[in-house]
Amino acid sequence: MSTTEIPDGPIGVHVKVLHYVRLVAALVARVLFNLFYGKSGEKLPPITEPILREPAVEIARRIRMQEVSSVEVLEAFIRRIKDVNSALNCFVEDRYELALKEARQADDLVKSGSLSVQQLEKDKPFLGVPFTTKDCIAVKGLHHTSGVVLRKDVIADQDAETVKLLREKGAIIMGLTNVPELCMWWETHNHIHGRTNNPYNTTRIVGGSSGGEGCIQAAAGSAFGVGGSIRMPSYFNGIFGHKPSKFIVSNAGQYPEPTSELHSSFLGIGPMVRHAVDMKPLLKIMSGSNSEKLKLDEPVDISKLKVFYQINNDAPITDPVDPEIAAAMEKVVEYLKVKHNIVAEKQRITRLRKSNPIWLTLMKDEKKSFAQRIMGKDGVCTLLLEMLKNFIGCSGNTLIGIVTGLVDRGGVAVGSDKYNHYLKCRDELIDTFQTMLGDDGVFLYPTHPTPAPYHNEPLVRPMNFCYTSIINCMGLPATNIPLGLGSEGLPIGIQVVANYNNDRLCLAVAEELDKAFGGWVEPHKA
Ligand SMILES: *[C@@H]1O[C@H](CO)[C@@H](O)[C@H](O)[C@H]1NC(C)=O
Repeated sequence: MSTTEIPDGPIGVHVKVLHYVRLVAALVARVLFNLFYGKSGEKLPPITEPILREPAVEIARRIRMQEVSSVEVLEAFIRRIKDVNSALNCFVEDRYELALKEARQADDLVKSGSLSVQQLEKDKPFLGVPFTTKDCIAVKGLHHTSGVVLRKDVIADQDAETVKLLREKGAIIMGLTNVPELCMWWETHNHIHGRTNNPYNTTRIVGGSSGGEGCIQAAAGSAFGVGGSIRMPSYFNGIFGHKPSKFIVSNAGQYPEPTSELHSSFLGIGPMVRHAVDMKPLLKIMSGSNSEKLKLDEPVDISKLKVFYQINNDAPITDPVDPEIAAAMEKVVEYLKVKHNIVAEKQRITRLRKSNPIWLTLMKDEKKSFAQRIMGKDGVCTLLLEMLKNFIGCSGNTLIGIVTGLVDRGGVAVGSDKYNHYLKCRDELIDTFQTMLGDDGVFLYPTHPTPAPYHNEPLVRPMNFCYTSIINCMGLPATNIPLGLGSEGLPIGIQVVANYNNDRLCLAVAEELDKAFGGWVEPHKA
């Protein structure tokens, strides 16, 4: 560990009290949720068309080889979306007619023979492959609401940069998936499209903000997805998702747009997929001219990697990591030892305990308040009034949106001593990680401390996302790796983190563990 790390002071008494009060509240709430939901929860219909199970790269190959047409593939995905969406409510807007037209054009191009199979593979690697993205990444001609009622009539007049790059390589956009209000909270729910349900158990959440996207991928309703945030919804839905290194993939066309370089470094649009092999070729396209910085074609020898891991971060107001997730991590460590002779080094990076205040402080956006964005106005009275309206069911805003608006008004002012203190904490963490990881290291860490909670349950577990948010604060690349289903029939998994621009290490580990641990599990088998 880096010698520059300053030891943390003890946790304050009020934080400790809050920690235990919340723990008890969460336990009580769990009992009530169990009673409330009982044995409910729909099962998804099984996947009947084999093409839906294939990796996007394999679908692309078959289209190029004329083993299947793009129209047939698209129609199969459309049937699947229609089959599952009443139970899941993940897909919110389609452009099927335009997509079918583009699929016919793709088939015509293949049949014309004007480009050889090799040329097609090089110039249009995803020709004819249907994909989806979330309703806060712009798709020309479709809504661009970000789940905000005030924006319900906003139509995008051009594609987001990532969508544009993928379409240039032949991929076909089918439509949009659901998000939380202003993409802020980690349950996907808003007052335009409602709530999205987990494909493994509809009583559970899909995460956020790319919750609808994670859901549709797990349900095999789309060949691949474009998300951002990525790992948490990938985790709850048992799929792979890669958050790229900072400043590699363009955020242009994403709403809300980052208003500072710092916030831009937290975000990153990336691939969400059922099969790990799809991430590298998709990232290569999505990163545009920055792709060279990632040296994605350089081979990675897993057995030469240095592996570090940590299970609990001991952050207050946060749930301890579920024993099943800890056991899954230990299994991965054991696998790497047996298969690759790697002795993973267990870490205890104490500064990770401060993940929550670091994130809460650095997220502060002084340019436009949260309330301004979701209500068009701000003020404590305005927010409290909106809360009353919410209780009687006539607010355009979600309860958590209003609460976030209130919380956002407080907090640490940008540039204050406290702000600078947490910025320094973050910088020290970056030092620690950079020293630890070098150019050949990866860090295994839980993506989230529990499997998907019930709907609304995040309200009593509000800070559990600190396992992913702290990695965003550092801008490091990280991949969610699903590791099967836990005893509740819900996906579990871990994330793998690498140093800046070493995304290829994360992806190589993900591909290896996909083969070793089975990766994505079809939801009806849960
Ligand atoms: C969903 O979860 C509930 C409560 O945990 C459980 O009783 C039910 O069997 C689950 N349903 C399915 C389809 O797995």
